[in-house]
Amino acid sequence: MVNTPVSKAPTRKPPRQDGVFDRIVQEATETTTPAEKIYVYEAPLRLWHWVNAICIILLCVTGYFIATPPPSVYGEASDHFVLGNIRMVHFAAGQVLAVAFLGRIYWAFAGNHHARQIFLLPVWSAKWWGEIWHEIKWYAFATPTPKKYIGHNPLAQFAMFFLLIVPLVLQILTGFALYAEGAGTDGWMHAMFGWVFGLFGDNSFAVHTYHHLFMWFIVVFSIVHIYAALREDIMSRQSLISTMVSGWRYFKDDEK
Ligand code: HEM
Ligand code: HEM
Repeated sequence: MVNTPVSKAPTRKPPRQDGVFDRIVQEATETTTPAEKIYVYEAPLRLWHWVNAICIILLCVTGYFIATPPPSVYGEASDHFVLGNIRMVHFAAGQVLAVAFLGRIYWAFAGNHHARQIFLLPVWSAKWWGEIWHEIKWYAFATPTPKKYIGHNPLAQFAMFFLLIVPLVLQILTGFALYAEGAGTDGWMHAMFGWVFGLFGDNSFAVHTYHHLFMWFIVVFSIVHIYAALREDIMSRQSLISTMVSGWRYFKDDEK
C-alpha cells in the first residue's frame, strides 16, 4: 500500500452523492480549472481528528497541572476543589479520547483506504523510504519542488504512527491503569488494566513517569504537525487544512 503521488494515481471519480443537499454542495463547489479535486477524508475520520485534537490539548494542559499543581488556595480544599476539577476534566477527556480512538480503529476497517494510512506503513518499500527522504529535503528547503499526494505524504504517515499512534496507545493503557488504581484494586477496571503495572515493575511511580514522558512525544508531534499543516497549506501544491474540514483535496496546478 504505497502512497502514490497524484500524478501517477489512476483517475478516480468522487463517490456518488445521492442526497439533494449533497448534490447542491457538489454542484456549487465544482472546480472550473482542469486541476482535479478528490474526496479523501470521510466524515467519521474528520470528526475523529478534531475531537482527538481537542481532547489532546485538554489532556496535555490538565496533565501538566496534575504533575505540577498550582499553589494551594487559602481555605477549605473542598470549597475550591481546584485540582479536583483539573483531574475531573483530565479523566473525562481521557475517556472521550479512548472511545473515539476505538471508533477510529473501527473506521480503519470500514472507511476508504486513506483511513488505514496512519496504521499501515509500507516499511518494506524502498520507494516509500525514498519519498520520506524527499519530503525531509522539501521541509528543510533543500529541494525546490514538492510532490503531490492524494492522502498523507510518507513523512507525515511516519510521524503520525511513531509520534502519535504509538504514544496514544501507551497513554490510554497507562492512563486507565492509573485511574483503576485510584478507583480501587478490586474493581472491573483494575481487572482490565492492572496488568499494565507489571510492564513497569509493579511500580506506580514508574507508570506515572512514563505516562508523563509519553505526553512529550505527543506535544512534539502536535507542534510539528500544526506547523507542517500551516506551511504545506501555503507552500505545497495541494489543499491541507480545508481538506481536514471538508474532506476534499484540491490541487493547485496540473503539472506532474
Ligand atoms: C489547529 C490544529 C490542527 C490543524 C490545523 C490540523 C490539521 C491537519 C491536517 C490538514 C491534516 C491532514 C494532513 C494531510 O492531508 O496529510 C491532519 C491530519 C491529522 N492530524 Fe491534525 N491538525 C491539528 C491538530 C492536531 C492535533 C492536536 C493532533 C493530535 C496530536 C492531530 C493529529 C492528526 C492526525 C492523527 C491526522 C491524520 C488523520 C487520519 O488519517 O486519521 N492534529 N491534521
Ligand atoms: C494524550 C493523552 C494523555 C496525556 C497527554 C496525559 C497526561 C498526563 C500527565 C502529564 C499526568 C501527570 C503524570 C505525573 O507526572 O504524575 C497524567 C496523570 C494521569 N492521567 Fe493522563 N494523560 C493522557 C491520557 C489519559 C487517559 C486516556 C487517562 C484515562 C482515563 C488518563 C488518566 C490519568 C490519571 C488517572 C492520572 C493520575 C492522576 C493523579 O495521580 O492525580 N490520562 N496524565
